Amino acid sequence: MKMYHLDLSKKDIKNAKIALLPGDPGRVPKIAYLLDKDAKEIAYKREYRTYLAKVQNENILVVSTGIGGASCSICVDELAQLGVKNFIRVGTSGAIQSFLKVGDVVITSGAVRLDGASEHYAPLEYPAVAHYKILSALQEAAEKLKLRYYVGITASCATFYPGQERYDNYSKYVIKKFQGTKKEWEKLNVLNYEMESATLFTVCSVFGLFGGCVTGIVGAEDRKIRKDALKKGEENAIWTAKEAVKILLERKILL
Ligand code: URA
Repeated sequence: MKMYHLDLSKKDIKNAKIALLPGDPGRVPKIAYLLDKDAKEIAYKREYRTYLAKVQNENILVVSTGIGGASCSICVDELAQLGVKNFIRVGTSGAIQSFLKVGDVVITSGAVRLDGASEHYAPLEYPAVAHYKILSALQEAAEKLKLRYYVGITASCATFYPGQERYDNYSKYVIKKFQGTKKEWEKLNVLNYEMESATLFTVCSVFGLFGGCVTGIVGAEDRKIRKDALKKGEENAIWTAKEAVKILLERKILL
C-alpha cells in the first residue's frame, strides 16, 4: 500500500532504515547524487520528493519535508509507518547569536517548540531533543571536515516572518507575542532559527526512533538570505550529514 502523501510503499523503499530530510525538494537530487551517483527518484508528490541511494550497501532515502512542522510531521509519520527508524534533517537556518556567520554549521541538541505541530504528538512539557547517537555522529563529522560548528538549542518556528520576529513582512508588523523574542532567545543562549527540528525531534522521541538535525547558517546579522550565503550554508550542512551517515553506518550505530 502506498502512503497517501509520500506516494511510497514498503516495496519502493527497499527496507531503507535511514532518511535524510532536507526541506526543499530541489535539494533532494543534489544530496542523493552526492551519496550515490546512481541514486534514483522513486516518488514526487506535492512537496515530498524521494530519492533512493545506496551507501556502504545500505539503502538510504532522501526525502523533502516541505517547509514547517505540519508537512514535516506527515513526512516523518509516513516514513515511520514504512519502517524507517533514523532521521537526519539537513537544512538551513538563520542566526540568532551574533557570533554565528554565514556557512557555520549548527547541530541542534534541542529545539524550542514554537512549531505548533509537535503539540499534536506530545504536550509542550515534553522535550524536543536530538538522539544523542545521531548528535555525536554529526559532531564528529563536522570535526572531521574541519568546519566551524556549534552544538546547541534552536528556536523552531511555525512561521518564517512573525515567529522569527522579521519586520520585513507585508504588514511590517509583528504581533505583541513575538515582539522582543529574538533578543530574548539570544539572552537564553538559543543559537538559531529554523522550522522543522522541534517537530522532527518530538515525533521521533514519541515513536522511539532516532532523530538529528544539522543546518547551515544562511542569514546572519540582518538575516537576509543571499544566493552565495544559501549555497555555502546548504553545502556545509550537506557535507556534515553525508559524513555522519558514513560514521553511523560504519559503526552500525543506527536503529
Ligand atoms: N530558515 C529559517 O527558518 N530561518 C532563516 O532565517 C533561514 C532559514
